[in-house]
Amino acid sequence: MYAKAAGLPNQDGLIHLELGQPAHDTPEHIKAATIAAITAGHVHYSDLPGIAPLREALAHKLHTFNGIAVTAADVVVTNGLTHGSFAAFFAIINPGDEVILLDPYYPQHVGKIELAGGRAVPAPLDAEHGFSIRADWIEAKVTARTKALVLVNPSNPTGRVYTRGELEALAALAIRHDLIVIADEVYEYNVYGGQHISIASLPGMAERTISLYAFTKSYAMDGWRLGYATAASDILSAMLKVTANDVTHVNTFAQHGALAAITGDPAVLRHMVEDETAKRDFLVAALNRMPGVMCPLPQGSIYAFPDIRGTRLASQTLADRLLDEARVVVESGAFYGAQGEGYLRICFGSQSLPTIKEAVRRLEDFFNRQITRI
Ligand SMILES: Cc1ncc(COP(=O)(O)O)c(C=O)c1O
Repeated sequence: MYAKAAGLPNQDGLIHLELGQPAHDTPEHIKAATIAAITAGHVHYSDLPGIAPLREALAHKLHTFNGIAVTAADVVVTNGLTHGSFAAFFAIINPGDEVILLDPYYPQHVGKIELAGGRAVPAPLDAEHGFSIRADWIEAKVTARTKALVLVNPSNPTGRVYTRGELEALAALAIRHDLIVIADEVYEYNVYGGQHISIASLPGMAERTISLYAFTKSYAMDGWRLGYATAASDILSAMLKVTANDVTHVNTFAQHGALAAITGDPAVLRHMVEDETAKRDFLVAALNRMPGVMCPLPQGSIYAFPDIRGTRLASQTLADRLLDEARVVVESGAFYGAQGEGYLRICFGSQSLPTIKEAVRRLEDFFNRQITRI
């Protein structure tokens, strides 16, 4: 939808709620530390897995926040989570291997699985119960070729934060079938009330989980391209072979900015969560007043995933009409897999509250005029 909107001859007044790009600026202390690092001459190659103080700080965070007991030697700094997942798929996939994605899924994982010679296999989430995990439905997709499964928690696009029970069922399945779990936890701090649990912290999971993180959403550092990964040492050294060969390492002075982020005042994260909560609450309440729309409150991520089946329009048709008639850009749920048909993905994290209010005004106008209540 971004490409479609960008192709319109008139860009005036378009409101973009399709991209998951944080609305905030990167906090000043992070920028200052990066500028100071340049001034101090941190402009040369760093250690391939990343600068030692950053990896030490990340190991501490992984231990205390995520419950994953690691040392600095178990951490590799990556160019955003995208690069971490690229390294993960290239490290573990042999040609023809299958990787299970929970549908609706984050489509960018598919491209990397296929580039690495694997096959992405969608397994449905339980849409009628808040897109929860049904381990038996996932297990039905396991074959002799299944190598791994990808867990995005909190979920993009559904906004679900998986419960301990769901994660335990998934962990039991992974152990039973000797699968690797690739845990994309880019939204670990975008949690509104509930508790985020890292699957690697469950018994027997640290050795079979590749846990992936980024500074992207939590510290509004999407353009910096900073992430990190931790996994068992044999998997991590295979991932390091990939990262050392494709990018050598991550920009040295940007890593100093990341160090300032991870060791800085956690109030930054609290403020981000407060702001996102206010925007989420406003958007979701408004969506639920629109004819044909039902939207549960997402517990995590920066997306609302309203059920629009009551409009009797296909997701893509509705997204296209909202672009043309309301000049609001949202994503069709079908973009995220077969289970996403009948839904839209609307990002509340990428704009300010006043802009979201204007988008809602236009959406209400569209729905009240165009959609018959059923
Ligand atoms: C689930 C998920 N994983 C990964 C990414 C990409 O993260 P990064 O920008 O750190 O590569 C995104 C960005 O929207 C995402 O939603």
